[in-house]
Amino acid sequence: TMNDKAIVDEEGKRMRDAMNDSVTLERAGRIGLIRIDHPPVNALAGPVRTGLRTAVDRLAAEAVPGGTAAGGLAAVVVYAAGRTFVAGGDIAEFDDPDYDITHLLDTLARLEGLALPVVAALHGSVLGGGLEIAMACHYRVAQAGTRLGQPEVRLGLLPGAGGTQRLPRLVGAGRALEMMLDGQPIGTDEALRLGLIDAVTDGDPRTAALAYAENLLAQGAGPRRSAERPVMVTAGAGAGNEAAAAATEVADFFARRRTALAARAAVYPALPRIVDAVEAGCTQGFAAGLAVETQAFQACLRAPQSQAMRALFFAEREAAKLPGLPADVALRPIRRVGVVGAGTMGGGIAMNFANAGIPVVLVDTSAEALARGLDIVRRNYQASAARGKLDVAEVERRMACLHGTLALADLGDCDLVIEAVFENMALKLQVCAQLGEVCRPGAIIATNTSTLDMDALARASGRAGDFVGMHFFSPANVMRLLEVVRGAHTAPEVLATVVRLARTIGKVAVVSGVCYGFIGNRMLESYLRESEFLLLEGASPARIDAAIQSLGLPMGPCRMLDMAGLDVAAKVVIEHLKAGGLPPDPSYRAAVQRMFALGRFGQKTGAGYYRYDGRTPLPDPEVADICRALAAEHGIAQRDDIGDDEIIERCLYPLINEGARILEEGIAYRPGDIDVVWTCGYGFPDHRGGPMHMADRLGAAHIVRRLEHYARQRGNPHGYWDRSALLARLAEHGGRLADFRGA
Ligand code: CAA
Repeated sequence: TMNDKAIVDEEGKRMRDAMNDSVTLERAGRIGLIRIDHPPVNALAGPVRTGLRTAVDRLAAEAVPGGTAAGGLAAVVVYAAGRTFVAGGDIAEFDDPDYDITHLLDTLARLEGLALPVVAALHGSVLGGGLEIAMACHYRVAQAGTRLGQPEVRLGLLPGAGGTQRLPRLVGAGRALEMMLDGQPIGTDEALRLGLIDAVTDGDPRTAALAYAENLLAQGAGPRRSAERPVMVTAGAGAGNEAAAAATEVADFFARRRTALAARAAVYPALPRIVDAVEAGCTQGFAAGLAVETQAFQACLRAPQSQAMRALFFAEREAAKLPGLPADVALRPIRRVGVVGAGTMGGGIAMNFANAGIPVVLVDTSAEALARGLDIVRRNYQASAARGKLDVAEVERRMACLHGTLALADLGDCDLVIEAVFENMALKLQVCAQLGEVCRPGAIIATNTSTLDMDALARASGRAGDFVGMHFFSPANVMRLLEVVRGAHTAPEVLATVVRLARTIGKVAVVSGVCYGFIGNRMLESYLRESEFLLLEGASPARIDAAIQSLGLPMGPCRMLDMAGLDVAAKVVIEHLKAGGLPPDPSYRAAVQRMFALGRFGQKTGAGYYRYDGRTPLPDPEVADICRALAAEHGIAQRDDIGDDEIIERCLYPLINEGARILEEGIAYRPGDIDVVWTCGYGFPDHRGGPMHMADRLGAAHIVRRLEHYARQRGNPHGYWDRSALLARLAEHGGRLADFRGA
């Protein structure tokens, strides 16, 4: 095998020598190359780390500055095979309790310490540990289009292989902090401007780096070590680490950053630690800064926030995998999309495709409605342009993707048509039947319904195999979640095509089976039920919202419904009641129905659970009166001892319990899918990993005990507190929801 055999040329010089399956040493004249090859993204898994170490040590032994005729090496190039340079540490390894970053740190110190110039050849994604390798090299050449960044913060981490020290030395402390605190990668233009890379090539990065190295040798250039540079606190302004006079200025600079992060520091502990590490490196030097970084990295790695965010990283990717689907399923090409209904939802949906350059035919029944819809889309784009997020020319390009029409027949050449008309069964049945007639054979027909019986709509279309649910979340052009609903007869390739398309338009797709509310809204129902009972029992909207927001959700239930519209919410309840889907409990969601009856529709009418001064919610004593009256009508006793813990447990534990039922019933494939629904669609905090992840942290036994407690305390005539069989089983026998697979 390659492992133990060196490839030698006719003069006996070694050309290729595999350190192991992932790292190979090559030679091109007097330049040695380290080649990393660990598909799919060259993550720094164990074999890459050990291979890298062996390679660096081998090179150190053969280094002969300037090279010799006898074959000594004069320069080194580091490059990677496949679609990308190194995309970072192997995130899957971070759960290993023995994971130790110091070995990699030491390898990078040795790489940087080589007495020969070392050039990194970059392409694809140069992220995390990948950028840290690149920065330990002395020079960097990147293919145009390469993305460079330190995204660790999105995993609840900080750079742990020297990034907090080398990046500030290359681009200045200010820009380095921004890059590490928001985790957003940068492109080659900016990287070149900042001095993070030295050259950009349109060609093969390996070839360009070899030429770059030859050029360095021709100029007699030697190593140029990032670690030996001073840190510029502000780019060009010159308050370096040696500038004792500027010490107070430096201290101020970091103090200001810390203050700006203070509010988020408790839930994202990596943030202040990034500032600490950069400051230490700035004021006490590279080695001291590195020590702070290492200690902080190890602490964050074990912190629950990072564990949650890492689990979500993999859950988002796993959600796109459809169990039982043949790997070679042929996807249907989607070149043109139709959207029926130019309202808020339809317009938002259409924007997603226009953003991706896919032409959209937008249909509505009146010219006014169509013009209004297109105008809202245009104003949305213009607002983005005004905020500097979109080119003005791009606004026009996107608008040019949208073609309005009044004729359903114009959908005949679309590959996918999504109906987004009012949430009314008769109307949707009619539209789906019409789509069955006008769409070309093989076109996919999708409904955006959130509550109606999707299989009935599929039947109405006469093409149940081509029919699928695409449940977008409002605002449809912003929220990342797309619930893809698998009907009883949806063809596997239709499901796979839509899941793949979601990725093209920047959404995270989660597949749900058919049930009332699908995954997200079904779980939301129990949460809203309890929040409304709490209102009747005397907890104020502000009290309930504050307790929920203390978990890190952006809005509590009352604020959320005020934004969404209490009329919309109440109509859903009323329809559900008519359809016989609700328990025979007259107090069930009585609060929202009363608000609706009183014309308190929420923010848009200036009053709902709160009254509004513009968009600012203010407590409204009238709401307390309304709730008191409702409580009296329904024989519910009001209490003044409702604490935050009760609010959180009563709203969240039934939601978790419902999630467990959704798993049991096979509505969701995996617990991670449910967590993705909640974090991408409802603002559930990523640092808690989603409701299923949170349940595992709390333990099934604890949740079941509390459900039983509330069943006793509140009574349980309607089964609100019945435990799901899955939770009950885990509570009894141990185990985690995370390990549940397949009903
Ligand atoms: N570790 C382990 N697996 C990884 C990985 C990583 N860093 N990055 C990607 N993968 C896996 C994905 O799970 C996926 O696996 P499956 O095919 O089995 O699902 C596969 O690689 C392809 O990934 P994507 O589907 O995301 O592919 P993409 O082309 O859409 O995106 C990417 C590629 C931009 C590199 C993206 O995967 C990404 O952002 N990765 C994470 C980058 C990151 O956070 N790096 C920092 C890690 S922490 C670190 O670096 C610390 C350290 O060393 C000290």
